[in-house]
Amino acid sequence: MVFHFKNVPIHFETFGKGPAIFLLHGFLESSTMWKPLIPELSKNNHVITIDFPGHGKSGVIAETHSMELMAEVVNEVLQKLGISKATFIGHSMGGYVALAFAEPFPEKVERLILLNSTPMADSEERKENRDRALKVIDQNPQAYISMAIGNLFAESSREKFAAAIENLKKEAYSFPMEGIKAAIRGMRDRKDRTEILKNFNKGKYMILAEEDPILPILETEKIAERCGCSLKIIEGGHMSLIENLNSVTEYLHFIG
Ligand code: MLT
Repeated sequence: MVFHFKNVPIHFETFGKGPAIFLLHGFLESSTMWKPLIPELSKNNHVITIDFPGHGKSGVIAETHSMELMAEVVNEVLQKLGISKATFIGHSMGGYVALAFAEPFPEKVERLILLNSTPMADSEERKENRDRALKVIDQNPQAYISMAIGNLFAESSREKFAAAIENLKKEAYSFPMEGIKAAIRGMRDRKDRTEILKNFNKGKYMILAEEDPILPILETEKIAERCGCSLKIIEGGHMSLIENLNSVTEYLHFIG
């Protein structure tokens, strides 16, 4: 399905009936990442997936796709579907957006599940990396995408998941470069939402991976504890849905 947000097409899909579960993908991904979870989740739930602006089949809205802007798009989808509250599962950048949504709309969030994600803002070093990435994209976009996607996986699993990595790259090569840059700027400039997560007083869960090259496990684990999240640490890298699907699905059984 498609609707227009500020005259730009935004794609979303829905599956099944029941309590709503909104699935928010990460950077350089799209709604297709959730395919392995949908048959099970949609048995008893109304599952919604979206392509964030500049990702998948959705267009580019602005020079910077802030987490707040993406959360506005999410809210628009909920309104279109007449849904008053949902459980949110956000992968990495999708988790940043889920928190940017929970800040103004806590009443619309039933449960918050952050998969390979964090409420923290970028460190200074990470902000510098984002600026470097913006320059590399201008020089060689394909090389940037290839490197960035490879780097999401644990070193130990890159060979095993070579085919999945190639598929992800193939899809991301089709995304508009301005959209990729807009998301990088949005992530770089995002604010810390540790307090938002700490104060969120319904079910909150974090799934972290031992060898995540993006999120330092020890630091993120402490944040999860400080925010009062139920925490599950599993094997693998940043792409748990690919690298460790079984552990993720096992853990998500509480969703019903
Ligand atoms: C993602 O997987 O969404 C991004 O790698 C997150 C990030 O770069 O902070």
